[in-house]
Amino acid sequence: MILEPYIYYKENQLMMEELKIEDIMKETGTPAYLYSKGSLLNQLKQLKEAFQNSNVLFCYSLKVCHNINIANVFVNEGCGIDIVSGGELYRALKAGADPKKIVYSGVAKTSKEIKEAIEADILMFNVESEQELMRINSIAASMNKKVSISLRINPGVDAKTHPYITTGMKENKFGIDCEMGLEIYKSAMQMENINICGIDLHIGSQLLDITPYGEAMKVVADYVRTLKSMNIPIKYVDIGGGIGIPYTADKSTPDLLEYARLITEPFKDLSEITFILEPGRFLTAQAGLLITEVQYIKDNSYGKRFVIVDTGMHHLIRPSLYQAYHEIIPVIKKEKQKNKVDVVGPICESSDFLAKDRLIEEAKQGDLLAVTDAGAYGMSMASHYNSHELPVEVLVSKDAYKIIKKRETYVDLLQGEL
Ligand code: LLP
Repeated sequence: MILEPYIYYKENQLMMEELKIEDIMKETGTPAYLYSKGSLLNQLKQLKEAFQNSNVLFCYSLKVCHNINIANVFVNEGCGIDIVSGGELYRALKAGADPKKIVYSGVAKTSKEIKEAIEADILMFNVESEQELMRINSIAASMNKKVSISLRINPGVDAKTHPYITTGMKENKFGIDCEMGLEIYKSAMQMENINICGIDLHIGSQLLDITPYGEAMKVVADYVRTLKSMNIPIKYVDIGGGIGIPYTADKSTPDLLEYARLITEPFKDLSEITFILEPGRFLTAQAGLLITEVQYIKDNSYGKRFVIVDTGMHHLIRPSLYQAYHEIIPVIKKEKQKNKVDVVGPICESSDFLAKDRLIEEAKQGDLLAVTDAGAYGMSMASHYNSHELPVEVLVSKDAYKIIKKRETYVDLLQGEL
């Protein structure tokens, strides 16, 4: 859905902030990811306001949109970064993040990645298994360092979201179950190079119903009290990300004040706690558009019409992978009749579509279309499949825009190949 006042129509022209998207495209060409800086800042502001009475560190989840210029917008507002790889650590530091505000999650951290994060002196590792804990301890010992960790606990709560992005249930690979967690916390207490400082969870993504947070936070608060009674100190409660956004008009953003209440209330008696939030989608999804140009209109004899565009699953995989819905709207509205079409890309797979059986305004060759809510898990999940160049990325702020990732060349495609 378009998010006024950052994305809107003015005299039938789709605007981002104060600029006509058509004008930007004249310079950058398509496909292009456009992001509204005003929208990014406004989403963060809303979260900050909801948590203004709590001790909170916001760590932008870099995986949603990893361009260092986007991360830098949040860093400049005092945010830390949630990373899941050595590559993301590198990006976070390049974006200017304070290492002491970087948290590192992920089930498969390699020795190399762990060493790099210790060298960078990050805030904490969110540890996802006993073997990982042992590896961190031994690498820390070899480097003569004491390393802060939290354990990622799997509270066994159903986030009621798409199965591929539910993470807190018993059958998920993430985290450590509550029972085993106590044993691992105890052994961490004995490790010389480990400093226990927190507990971590992430129950899933795109939660529009936030009641599962209430359930999970009660489990975690009781858990923290148990740990306290065992003399295991917990300073940080990292609740991960997950707040959903309305991709369709019949949905709405969760009540953020209620979200903050569900998170903080179970910890009322534990005033020493600082909450860490790892928001991703909520901060960037609605700020982003993927702009594409119609290449061909193809009708078949079974009455089906395909609008074939210059982007697809290689640039925005969400429709193919999660059957996700993204609105597709014209960059210049012509008030023409609407047709039911499939919007498809150039990739040699039938799963390459952006929309199926979708009513959109009649489009013709050369028209520009905007795929909405594309700012999260769009460019960061894009690939070079079929050797297409990645889209350019553009950051728009008021009446100015900046190219933040230039268009690739064929030479770029072969980079590193011998
Ligand atoms: N923290 C951790 C540990 C995570 O695994 C994730 C997302 C986040 C934070 C950020 O969650 P968010 O606030 O964005 O919900 N590619 C999928 C979503 C995958 C989510 C992965 N983890 C999609 O396009 O819907």
